[in-house]
Amino acid sequence: MLHNLALEVMKNAYVPYSNFRVGVAIKSSNGKFYVGCNVENAAYPQSLCAEAGGILSMVAGGCNLISEVLIVSEGNKLIVPCGGCRQKLLEFSNLETRIFLASISKIEKTLLLTDLLPFSFDNTFF
Ligand code: THU
Repeated sequence: MLHNLALEVMKNAYVPYSNFRVGVAIKSSNGKFYVGCNVENAAYPQSLCAEAGGILSMVAGGCNLISEVLIVSEGNKLIVPCGGCRQKLLEFSNLETRIFLASISKIEKTLLLTDLLPFSFDNTFF
């Protein structure tokens, strides 16, 4: 389900600059599904990662907790979330949140946020 959703939304990625498509599908804690794709911009730093899009969609839909998130790209190497997206994912994850890294054909790796972002800064510091 998550894999199909992510593959489907990946087709809509707007990537005229990198030509590197990323798709994300999220299952939120209330059982709903949300998707995101990367959206680039001629002013490169204004580009949005797929994870940011998926998170935005989930929060706009009224949920603040990711139960599962799957990330897929077309690249030869297995996609991993960038540093900024790890921090964004942390904000809406808990210790049970599952992060699936997928190739076109299947889920290749299942991780926790603590695997991706150990020694992290979160809202317990203040
Ligand atoms: N990208 C994502 O969408 N997510 C990531 O975690 C890594 C990078 C996008 C941003 C840009 O559109 C393209 O991949 C190349 O960096």
